Amino acid sequence: MRVIIHRDAEAATRAVSAFFAEQLAAKPASVLGLATGGTMEGVYAELIELYRAGKMSFAKARSFNLDEYLGLPADHPQTYRHYMDERLFRHVDFPPNATHLPDGTSADPEKAAEDYEALIARYGPIDLQLLGLGANGHIGFNEPSSSLGSRTRIKTLTHATIEANGRFFEDGEWQPHQALTMGIATILDARSVLVLAFGAGKAEAVAQVVEGPISARWPGTALQMHRHATLVLDEAAASDLTMRDYYQWVQANDG
Ligand code: F6R
Repeated sequence: MRVIIHRDAEAATRAVSAFFAEQLAAKPASVLGLATGGTMEGVYAELIELYRAGKMSFAKARSFNLDEYLGLPADHPQTYRHYMDERLFRHVDFPPNATHLPDGTSADPEKAAEDYEALIARYGPIDLQLLGLGANGHIGFNEPSSSLGSRTRIKTLTHATIEANGRFFEDGEWQPHQALTMGIATILDARSVLVLAFGAGKAEAVAQVVEGPISARWPGTALQMHRHATLVLDEAAASDLTMRDYYQWVQANDG
């Protein structure tokens, strides 16, 4: 696993956006795996800037998001479809119908999960999968105890995740406790994976993902089995790594 440590979240965000621009320059018809959450907000703002400056285009690309809440109406501002429309899709030039999320409004969510997995298989593999990391080590909504061989399915969120995401909902508002999420095996099928984690609240999860034993207790540790996984961190998120000097030495010598 490649570990890249930046001084702060802004520098890390710029580096990740540059990876995206390079990916699309090398392969304009890339299949992109996208994530939501606070960590990604800066990345999408930066991608919009690059697009407006004529430095990247999504005109031939396709995207698959990791997850979507179950139980929110389609027009709810906290659906991940809404998040993606507002923070990226409506500002750039993806072709019509080329941006996919699991259907969290389906009357048959199990079938919606199977359909999503089939759609990824049809257009995939995903060339570049962007991932955030939960403080509990989740990737997508694969919470601790998720099967490392899992595929897209319904997942019940932990109390910790519901609480962490409560900041996006109004006080006292009903909050979903289930989601459709790509599975860990779905994520591992991507050609390359880019994980972003910022802040001291992610430091323990980062240390587990990079240096801990592979375990369903910390689902992100499954990425140790991926041949092209890169972790982009700020100083605070890197603070529990015991081999930090080595990663920085590699970073300085191998770019
Ligand atoms: C979002 C997702 C989650 C988040 C993670 C970190 O699509 O799948 O795994 O990436 O919960 O969220 P933030 O960035 O809000 O800390």
